[in-house]
Amino acid sequence: MADNSGSDEVGQNATRLRGVGVTAVGMAWARAAESQRPDRLFDDPIAVAIVERGRPELATLLSQAELPHAEEVGVERAPFDEQTATAFVEYAAVRTRYFDDCLSEACAAGCRQVVILAAGMDARAFRLPWPAETRLYELDQPDVLAYKEAMVTTMGVLPRCERRTVAADLTADWAAALRASGFQEGQHTAWLAEGLLSYLITKDNNALVSTARRLSGPGSMLALEVISASAIRNGPLAATAERIASFGAPWRSGVDDPAGWLAGHGWRARVDDPFDVAVGYGRQLTGWPGAGPTDEPTRWLVTATRDSELRPSP
Ligand SMILES: C[S@@+](CC[C@H](N)C(=O)[O-])C[C@H]1O[C@@H](n2cnc3c(N)ncnc32)[C@H](O)[C@@H]1O
Repeated sequence: MADNSGSDEVGQNATRLRGVGVTAVGMAWARAAESQRPDRLFDDPIAVAIVERGRPELATLLSQAELPHAEEVGVERAPFDEQTATAFVEYAAVRTRYFDDCLSEACAAGCRQVVILAAGMDARAFRLPWPAETRLYELDQPDVLAYKEAMVTTMGVLPRCERRTVAADLTADWAAALRASGFQEGQHTAWLAEGLLSYLITKDNNALVSTARRLSGPGSMLALEVISASAIRNGPLAATAERIASFGAPWRSGVDDPAGWLAGHGWRARVDDPFDVAVGYGRQLTGWPGAGPTDEPTRWLVTATRDSELRPSP
């Protein structure tokens, strides 16, 4: 039987989430769905717990936020049509596994410092087999971190690395907060920005990747999801962008040339099309806006390495 002790605190914290903070719960929703598949690409018990234990609070949140599969928790209106909602869950699974692999590979190459920017309900600290002495920082808004903290405390799960949470605004001087939490500047570091960049304006994204480059030592890696600016502006993601904006988490920017953009900030990027990545995992992404065989990608999964020959822009 489910242990619901502590669920009041979880609930109180959940109902404080607003705007873009709610999107973190949406991602947990998608990861919980993937975790229940027999052929799952990963298993995320914290996402499952968020869905199972936080059901009443989630119903409230999702009714405000209009996230996919809201009807399954008793919300009348689904935000996206079923095809888009299914496509979101399928894509979220592939994206999650891709970044699991990026971080695991970085650690296999000797990295012991990991920074997850906008961690949301990211449970990697708890579910990936980190090498001994790995220290992992999770940055996000205070309310989002508080919600997750209440959930993991209630569950009694322990991280599989040294985990430090850092409440920070990623549009302000987050580097200072990270340093104050013990981050070792100049060390081999793996950075992750998953599901973040489109919520920030271009200026803040430029600062984000430049700062990560400045703080990084040789061998460092930056993994990130990039959404196409033209697909948001007037392409196949325009309708999705409108729906997302309607619950207070507008997409504020995109990028049309991820490799060129990152090169300007001192990172040499490998840019992967999620459809190809999915095939590598034995999956097909169907129904995603702009997903036809000849369509331009609307999103990319990117792994970049710190390049000492590329000089970051000031
Ligand atoms: C779509 S969620 C992604 C969360 C997580 N990376 C994942 O993939 O599950 C977006 C996250 O960005 C965070 N976020 C957005 N703007 C932020 C800001 N200015 N400072 C800190 N966090 C921010 C939100 O709180 C939320 O957790």
